[in-house]
Amino acid sequence: MANYGANRKTDDLINSLKGKKPVKVLFVCLGNICRSPAAEGVLRSIVEANGDNEAWVIDSAGTYGGHAGDLPDRRMRVHAQRRGYDLVHRSRKFRTSDFDDFDIIIPMDASNESDLHQLAPTIEAEAKIIPMMKFVSLATRYDYVPDPYYEGAEGFELVLDLLEDGCANLYHTFSRN
Ligand code: 4NP
Repeated sequence: MANYGANRKTDDLINSLKGKKPVKVLFVCLGNICRSPAAEGVLRSIVEANGDNEAWVIDSAGTYGGHAGDLPDRRMRVHAQRRGYDLVHRSRKFRTSDFDDFDIIIPMDASNESDLHQLAPTIEAEAKIIPMMKFVSLATRYDYVPDPYYEGAEGFELVLDLLEDGCANLYHTFSRN
């Protein structure tokens, strides 16, 4: 597991959720049209492949609401589809009640993480925020999931590489009884 953001509170939360059913996971990025809906689709696919649907609640949201109601960015959908993921999430803005409705809230980068900390109403809510890279073990020069919005095809492929690795680790971390 990556060491990004590692601290005792993070490890305590992760340990407390091992074997919990369902584990309720919310992925968060800026627009909720590229990285977080892709993370949602990748984890959903892993969960379905393991016949484990009832053990997971999976959703995604954006700190910026300007794309609310939109399907994921067409480029993200195309790159995901080539790997077998059908991204059908509709973008929505993150809401404070998400801190009550989910066990773990996973920002893609430091800016998303900082925004979530600003929005958290309690220390307990803040403890639910764990960066995606905490789960990524792939050798990479990044310590965050980079925003592909202004990048070319390789930006979207990198996002999927990081998310496939991170979601597999996330799945195995919480499925272990
Ligand atoms: P995401 O990517 O946060 O991964 O969904 C972006 C989507 C839209 C914008 C920026 C990033 N935007 O500026 O509209």
